[in-house]
Amino acid sequence: MKTFLLIILLSATFHLYAQPMPDTETTPDTSLPYALIAGGSKGIGYGIAEALAKRHYNLILIARHRDTLDYAKHKLESDYNIHVVVLVYDLAKEESATEIAQWCTAHHIHLKMLCNVAGLGGSNDYLSLPLDSLRYMVRLNVESCMALTLTLLPLLEKNAPGYILNVASMAGFAPIPEKNMYSATKSAVIFFSYALRQQLRKKHISVSCLCPGPVFTKPEIVKTTKEKLGWFGMKMAMMPHKAGEITVRKTLKKRMIIVPGTLARTMSGVLRILPRRASAALYYKVGG
Ligand SMILES: NC(=O)c1ccc[n+]([C@@H]2O[C@H](COP(=O)([O-])OP(=O)(O)OC[C@H]3O[C@@H](n4cnc5c(N)ncnc54)[C@H](OP(=O)(O)O)[C@@H]3O)[C@@H](O)[C@H]2O)c1
Repeated sequence: MKTFLLIILLSATFHLYAQPMPDTETTPDTSLPYALIAGGSKGIGYGIAEALAKRHYNLILIARHRDTLDYAKHKLESDYNIHVVVLVYDLAKEESATEIAQWCTAHHIHLKMLCNVAGLGGSNDYLSLPLDSLRYMVRLNVESCMALTLTLLPLLEKNAPGYILNVASMAGFAPIPEKNMYSATKSAVIFFSYALRQQLRKKHISVSCLCPGPVFTKPEIVKTTKEKLGWFGMKMAMMPHKAGEITVRKTLKKRMIIVPGTLARTMSGVLRILPRRASAALYYKVGG
């Protein structure tokens, strides 16, 4: 009897192991369109990455730190079964844009969307920061956006229709004394996007510009929003995944200016019609 039971047990075990393993992972389809997100490893960039992954875009994520890039790749690939390439670059360096475009061309990337997200700001800049830091901000916020757009344009044209999404800020709608350079760089990104949209219209590449209010990507932003804007700021603020979802939805609808959230949109409407002298004075009063 014991031998009989042992045989049954052994054969059942063999049967179990002889079954093919369920196919839980399928190979991602590399023929799907790609979106390149400069600054896509965390924050708003990661929110945009996730919203695009949900819509079956393969992704190229760029940032300076390998660990956060690898974490983002692993999470997006396992959650959405897409292909994610990560490239480590400091976008403020002059040679980065050319090298990234060369890599994409050499690998025949089916590029449909470019998202220029990486940017730098703080609570104080001009007259508080050294010249090197100010130059770094201008290079990252303006020059990298301009350079990546130009170097990747041939690939976007080849795969047209396509999209360019530049990330500015609500701060770009008004001169902000304490964040003088930040608001100036973001206003440059807004103007650049408006003009580029017209230039690329006939090439079937839609240009959008995201101008968000506060997005809670790090604790300092929560703290300064609470301190400087109080209840109003906290109501206007948004989490990065929500900002990413709204941004992608509106980019694909070819909207020009994207301000996620009703309150932020109302506030930005007011800032856009106020005389510059008045908005600068108002910001100076509330401390940036
Ligand atoms: N958060 C807000 O409240 C807010 C509001 C309005 C506008 N914005 C704008 O939205 C954009 C994203 O802001 P965020 O708060 O999401 O920032 P974040 O959380 O700090 O994420 C920035 C992303 O860009 C990458 N990055 C930063 N500097 C880089 C460089 N020199 N070269 C390559 N990659 C770089 C970061 O990765 P590494 O650090 O690894 O490089 C990361 O992937 C910025 O342009 C910002 O001005 C933000």
